[in-house]
Amino acid sequence: MTLIGVPRESAEGERRVALVPKVVEKLSARGLEVVVESAAGAGALFSDADYERAGATIGDPWPADVVVKVNPPTSDEISQLKPGSVLIGFLAPRTQPELASRLRIADVTAFAMESIPRISRAQTMDALSSQANVAGYKAVLLGASLSTRFVPMLTTAAGTVKPASALVLGVGVAGLQALATAKRLGAKTTGYDVRPEVAEQVRSVGAQWLDLGIDAAGEGGYARELSEAERAQQQQALEDAITKFDIVITTALVPGRPAPRLVTAAAATGMQPGSVVVDLAGETGGNCELTEPGRTIVHHGVTITSPLNLPATMPEHASELYAKNVTALLDLLLTDDGVAPDFTDEIVAASCITRTEGDI
Ligand code: NAI
Repeated sequence: MTLIGVPRESAEGERRVALVPKVVEKLSARGLEVVVESAAGAGALFSDADYERAGATIGDPWPADVVVKVNPPTSDEISQLKPGSVLIGFLAPRTQPELASRLRIADVTAFAMESIPRISRAQTMDALSSQANVAGYKAVLLGASLSTRFVPMLTTAAGTVKPASALVLGVGVAGLQALATAKRLGAKTTGYDVRPEVAEQVRSVGAQWLDLGIDAAGEGGYARELSEAERAQQQQALEDAITKFDIVITTALVPGRPAPRLVTAAAATGMQPGSVVVDLAGETGGNCELTEPGRTIVHHGVTITSPLNLPATMPEHASELYAKNVTALLDLLLTDDGVAPDFTDEIVAASCITRTEGDI
């Protein structure tokens, strides 16, 4: 019988868990055995008893046939993996390529959730999207709570307050969710991206499209890095636009590159005191020149915050969504006879970052 192991995440501040009890119940019903490390779900408020009720046993997850994680494993964790086993998780293939070599030496076959192609058939496995949705939503709540102003228009006996204006720079999955969330809170919303096809999506969530006439659509639906001339054109136009907004949320990323600088120090300085910049690109250096990743600073009355790992701040739903993504990938890798990845499958081939020479 295939044994699936769920370790407790060891990364600092991480509260998510790779499988939630609801999903464990379905896996158990299919005849899979799940072993969960004690307190693995504690950060997301799932108790050991919840997992046991769902059919899991509490114990050592590392000798399992398939270990499912959220974050990349530490060296110590790699040394506990069983040779010939499978590891699934966010494995940072672009930023920590040496991890794949270490897993290869440990004789482990590894699938990186972030390498799953963004194609329709893989949508249920798209953990980048599920976690980006959490981050985009939470970014707006943070922006609203740090702002000194109301977000919605309010008409009260004491007078009328005009709605806040929110600008989202970089409208991928997180940005689109941020626009939708800010709209629901009552903000006047505007979106900007370097991929022109995003304009329609921006309008579909009731936001205005900020058109700077730049087209930097790259491969695989991602953006490419801008040329020097394009960057200068963008910088000037953005600098003028940004100062008019109460809340600016930035999510712009270019795969494998440092985050593009979209909010210059001059633009941040030009914003009205009491305004807020929420920079979601802190992990790759930040979209705002003044960003200090992981910190909140106040500059001339403008609050600039760059939270790291926002999905971990909503661990229950973030874990639930992630667990569904992982299970969808497991469905693809498992047969009645155990783990049998079909390496000719586009999704399997793209997400596999290293494989054993053994029989799988
Ligand atoms: P991402 O996290 O890599 O980047 C966020 C956004 O920043 C992107 O929209 C990108 O165009 C933008 N950006 C980069 N440089 C910029 C700059 N200088 N100025 C302004 N914006 C800039 O993107 P994410 O959210 O991972 O989405 C990537 C692609 O995958 C998108 O095309 C998205 O529509 C697509 N996708 C497709 C899915 C599918 O199943 N078909 C599912 C989810 C996403």
